[in-house]
Amino acid sequence: MKIYKAIKKDHDIQRDLCNKLVNTSGESEERKELWTKLKKELEVHAVAEERYFYSPLIDTDEMQEDARHGMAEHHEMDELIAELTDTDMSSPHWLATFKKLMEKVEHHLKDEEDDFFGKAEGIYSEKEADTLAKNYENTMEEYRYTWPESIPGNETTE
Ligand SMILES: [Fe+2]
Ligand SMILES: [Fe+2]
Repeated sequence: MKIYKAIKKDHDIQRDLCNKLVNTSGESEERKELWTKLKKELEVHAVAEERYFYSPLIDTDEMQEDARHGMAEHHEMDELIAELTDTDMSSPHWLATFKKLMEKVEHHLKDEEDDFFGKAEGIYSEKEADTLAKNYENTMEEYRYTWPESIPGNETTE
């Protein structure tokens, strides 16, 4: 498997969770459970993707700007995630903020799938794309299991 397919698989998990979450209401068990899952998926994915997709591209003329743009969007999503974590789930503000995050996530995944992947295919060899996928998937598996401590900056979180 190539890195693009490995990432796309996890993007689909994110899309599915977003589509379910946007239909939840108040401080329901369903919303709490789905939010915990999505938060984990987004945080773990951003770390693994930066390491095994974006980082090597930072040093290329062709994709330096795209890689910076993608990582800046991860940061914007992090800020919305933090805002949601601090917002009372039963307030209408929670869903309004979630919709902002969902829009950003959808836009970001589209950039990656419809633009960045194609460009990266011109940079990564087939073999590199296979190796990156393996490393990406191993990290995802490990970090999903050790989340949230595995996320840089979260080390002291319980
Ligand atoms: Fe991303
Ligand atoms: Fe992604």
